[in-house]
Amino acid sequence: MSNNNHSKINDKNPLGILAIDHLEFTCGTIETPTKDLFYKFGFSKTYENEELNAQLFSQGQVRFLLISDNNPTSHSTQYFKDHGEGVSKISFLVEDCAHAIKTAVARGAEMISDAKTVECDEGVFITATIKGFGDVVNEFIQRPNSHFRPGFKKIETDPKANPLAHRVARIDHLTNNVPKGEMEKWVQFYKDIYGMVETRYFDIKGAKTGLNSKVVQLENNAVIIPINEPEVENGKSQIQEFLDLHKGSGVQHIALTCGKILSTVPELIKRDISFLDIPSSYYEMIPERGIKVEEDLKDLEDAKLLVDGDAEGYLIQNFTQTYVGPLFFEFIQRKNNDGFGEGNFQALFDAIERDQVARGYLD
Ligand SMILES: [Fe+2]
Repeated sequence: MSNNNHSKINDKNPLGILAIDHLEFTCGTIETPTKDLFYKFGFSKTYENEELNAQLFSQGQVRFLLISDNNPTSHSTQYFKDHGEGVSKISFLVEDCAHAIKTAVARGAEMISDAKTVECDEGVFITATIKGFGDVVNEFIQRPNSHFRPGFKKIETDPKANPLAHRVARIDHLTNNVPKGEMEKWVQFYKDIYGMVETRYFDIKGAKTGLNSKVVQLENNAVIIPINEPEVENGKSQIQEFLDLHKGSGVQHIALTCGKILSTVPELIKRDISFLDIPSSYYEMIPERGIKVEEDLKDLEDAKLLVDGDAEGYLIQNFTQTYVGPLFFEFIQRKNNDGFGEGNFQALFDAIERDQVARGYLD
């Protein structure tokens, strides 16, 4: 264990997780529409590994690694074969990789690969992996400097980049969908292995179907993971539809923190990103919900934004349509509120259910 005074390793963060380093998106071809999506979101290509057919897209602290290595023995290829496009690996930046893997295994994690040191021109990198929820792998990475990882070439300028006026800053949260009966198991996994704490529990009921959700997180807020399961087994519901399409557990949505969401979401809409439609009546109800909003309600309505909170604070958010298989994205700005838009969660649930009826998925 590191002995320096600034060590982040403690009872509440036993593995010494510093941040979500990057998310790996496995894909069938590197020219996937997901790459265009990342460009529309304002990301730029910052690193590349031609041998692995992998490209890193960055914006603020958010990093998405697109990979299509076509190596029959690699995890990313296996994940793509079994599930299609989606998040195949969650990589955590750690203070001390050897400590992280040793501690994770001691706390019950299933190790996939032990700490491995790779030295390259850019320095000494140490990585290790454990099994995460579903078939998603969790990686720990310890790096000596800002270089992404060995074997990757830095791209100085990306001519295709089209940055947003106000870039997204970080991953606010990362939501996992699991089958009925598994929510508790994975809540326990994040508590046991990572020392996360359970901060919220919701039951969301639409007119026809429902879901249960619990939120686990590190106390330092570096990682926040809501976990959803369908309310009933083998029923038709949003979570079940995701599980059927993805052929099992997976990352359902990724929430990105915005500094100026009133600018960002309209900018994304201009770039043809589809967001949830919100009826006008929704805005009339905001004052009745006891939320004190600084913004003009008309501006929020024009920008197609949802609001949730209480007298103390609120958050502004909206959700895209599904873009990577059944995975979608959320854009969020918090103003003294640590929720997830539970009020909107219900509104979102109702809206998706209406959509499912319209598509003939639900009767
Ligand atoms: Fe969310």
